[in-house]
Amino acid sequence: MEKREEIYKGKAKSVFRTDDPDLFVMHYRNDTSAFDGKKVEKLTDKGRVNNLFNAFIMEKLGTAGIRSHFVRLLSDTDSLVHRLDMIPVECVVRNLAAGSICRRYAVIEGTELNPPTFEFFLKNDALHDPMINDYHIISFGWATAAQIVAMKELSFRVNAVLKQLFADAGLLLVDYKLEFGMHKGELLLGDEFSPDGCRIWDATTRKKMDKDRFRQDLGSVIESYKEVGARLGMKFD
Ligand code: TMP
Repeated sequence: MEKREEIYKGKAKSVFRTDDPDLFVMHYRNDTSAFDGKKVEKLTDKGRVNNLFNAFIMEKLGTAGIRSHFVRLLSDTDSLVHRLDMIPVECVVRNLAAGSICRRYAVIEGTELNPPTFEFFLKNDALHDPMINDYHIISFGWATAAQIVAMKELSFRVNAVLKQLFADAGLLLVDYKLEFGMHKGELLLGDEFSPDGCRIWDATTRKKMDKDRFRQDLGSVIESYKEVGARLGMKFD
């Protein structure tokens, strides 16, 4: 497998074509962005930590029968993935209230959501990723009714696996964002799962250990990502 030219540059990752049309290389950069790209910084070691973090989580999900685009690690900052036709919506599952749901509905941060709730957002920075519903998705043709059902089902299956995994490490999985895409007629989990796209708190102290440390200028961003990973059993050295 030969890595060829960059075909897509996102805010934190780049995608490279390979000599195999079914396989892409996902390269994790140190670039860190928040507030739809308004706040941007390079954080030393972030690309490596998120690449290794994502590989560990995707493997756990794969073992639990949840298929993703992830194939294997290629290097500290590169992973081999299947090419997906991405669905341009973000699927958010929330176990506890934090972030935008608190602002929208005047909910106190940390309120338990029972059952966990689910939201769709349109992936569009220029529009600030507006919240959308099933009807918008179908009317605008972003996904089909069957894909909507599958995205919700998979998002909650991910919750069942990861909530327990994090709980066993003394961590609360507060919320997370997933993206899906189609691969040979099958809906697969795409993008990444790392502390950049979820909220994780220490279960006892409720200390924030995710990208909110960057958003809110709390410091020790990558140290916290690594601490979460180490508690889950990842090795970064
Ligand atoms: P929110 O509270 O800002 O709506 O975000 C909910 C969760 O989803 C949080 O863990 C951050 C993640 N997320 C992203 O990673 N990227 C996004 O564009 C959005 C809207 C949310």
